[in-house]
Amino acid sequence: MKLLKEKIESEGIVLNENILKVDSFINHQMDPFLMKEIGKEFAKLFKGEHITKVLTIESSGIAPAIMTGLELEVPVIFARKRKSLTLTSDLYTAEVYSFTKQESSEITVSNKYMDAGDNVLIIDDFLANGQAAIGLAQLVRQAGGTVSGIGILIEKSFQPGAGEIRKQGYRLESLARIKSLADKQVQFADAKET
Ligand code: G4P
Ligand code: NA
Ligand code: NA
Repeated sequence: MKLLKEKIESEGIVLNENILKVDSFINHQMDPFLMKEIGKEFAKLFKGEHITKVLTIESSGIAPAIMTGLELEVPVIFARKRKSLTLTSDLYTAEVYSFTKQESSEITVSNKYMDAGDNVLIIDDFLANGQAAIGLAQLVRQAGGTVSGIGILIEKSFQPGAGEIRKQGYRLESLARIKSLADKQVQFADAKET
């Protein structure tokens, strides 16, 4: 997506060869116009999939997810993260390990909001190791629902997540794919694109 890639080029800060900082438009200050366009783009990409729910994880996935839900005219759920493990029968739960943060957390969604009739579109801001997206897909499967696709704003293609998700058979659409952050430079995987 041209607009997102331009924004990354003009405002993204390469912290090191693994981390791109996007605090001025995604992770702290947010760009509503960009989020709206992102919502339209995902809606266009997934319009044939009969999506019934958009699912994301707090907190940075919420803005693009709500815009996508607005365009697809379906509800948006955000999974909650929590530290402690308390078994409760009314929650779908999955364990997510963050290699970036080197910590594990439990993600949950109430069984009130997802069931076997749902075709779910998973949305998140970054795809690194894929653990968040895979955990979200597990929640959908616990509900008996279908994962209709995974939509990511920024895929770091040099990390294992994208390959892992495709290996598991999910449809993955990433609006910007970064093949390298070496030498403080953002290099996109697909140089020419609309
Ligand atoms: P994974 O789900 O793909 O395995 O990713 P990982 O555990 O490594 O990511 C942990 C957190 O770091 C996530 O945010 C993720 O969005 C973020 N992250 C991963 N790579 C980058 C990067 O290159 N740049 C930035 N800015 N963030 C990155 P989170 O802890 O869930 O926080 P929130 O922002 O959603 O609240
Ligand atoms: Na996120
Ligand atoms: Na984040």
